[in-house]
Amino acid sequence: MEDLKNIKNNFIEKLKNNLDLDQISQIKTELFGKNGIISSQFKNIGLIPENERKKFASDLNYIKDELQGLITSKINEIDIKKINEKLEKEKIDITLPERPYQRGKIHPVSQTIDEITSIFSEIGFSVEEGPDVENEYHNFTALNTPDNHPARDMHDTFYLDDNKEILLRTHTSPVQIRTMLKDKPPFKIIAPGRTYRSDSDQTHTPMFHQVEGLHIDKDINMGHLKGCLNYFIKEFFEVKKIKMRFRPSHFPFTEPSAEVDIGYEIKDGKIVIGEGNQWLEILGCGMVHPNVLKNVKVDSSKYQGYAFGIGIDRLAMLKYGIKDLRAFFDCDYRWLNHFGFDPLDVPTNYRGLSR
Ligand code: DAH
Repeated sequence: MEDLKNIKNNFIEKLKNNLDLDQISQIKTELFGKNGIISSQFKNIGLIPENERKKFASDLNYIKDELQGLITSKINEIDIKKINEKLEKEKIDITLPERPYQRGKIHPVSQTIDEITSIFSEIGFSVEEGPDVENEYHNFTALNTPDNHPARDMHDTFYLDDNKEILLRTHTSPVQIRTMLKDKPPFKIIAPGRTYRSDSDQTHTPMFHQVEGLHIDKDINMGHLKGCLNYFIKEFFEVKKIKMRFRPSHFPFTEPSAEVDIGYEIKDGKIVIGEGNQWLEILGCGMVHPNVLKNVKVDSSKYQGYAFGIGIDRLAMLKYGIKDLRAFFDCDYRWLNHFGFDPLDVPTNYRGLSR
């Protein structure tokens, strides 16, 4: 027993010193490590005469708890001291004047997506999203573009595997499929996002942006499509009148299909949208092909509708007078400072989209 008391007093004295965490950890090992002083005492219990054993074990446990408690509170003390020192150093003088700071700018593509979303949401479209990494089924087959269809070649697809099953989506149209597979009609959605094709020049970049539109309901016809696009283009370019023409075209997933051109002219070296006798193609559209509806289990004798796909970057270039598409993705701060938008000016229809 004398032994245990000595051990205890000895270590209590030791722990009174000004110790750092390493030294405390050393003491801990000395006492409770595998061959530590207290641990060895526990191993010795069996050697104690039977009539003293119970008391010895109880005293040992008591001393163990006491020393462990002391060590823990010593460690806490050091931790608290450290935190206090840190707090003391990190004091902020809130009476100092605000430092001048530079606000970031919103990229013209993000701005354009916000504007488009705002315009379509006014007439009841909600926003859907799909993955950039798609499979061949959603990107082509379900959109009535079977294997070996020539439209597949025209897309300059980036395939991600040798079997040509996984790819970077070449358009936002697969979101039509994903939306219709997961819900029941009616559908009235837009889907803005990134798209990819192996192409690069002044008006093409390997990654670009599209917005898909899809409206499926009972009794939807081409008149609705025309009305919707006419409204959109006028709102987007913030003009009262727009010259617009539907040119017959072909897409596998629509029948009939059309491409839409808007009229423009060049005045004093600047492009003026909506007038003039020059034409600029801005989107593809049409009535959703019955085969597409069949693929997503929508009854085409009850439901039909229109779809469209618009190139977002092209619209942004036109509206904001940006000549080279590649500059969009150069990450040049000087360019962004010039063409970027104030982050606090969120586009809304009632307040004006781009001012
Ligand atoms: N996905 C087509 C493309 O990228 C654009 C398009 C055309 C989308 C007609 C549509 C549509 O939804 O109906 O070339």
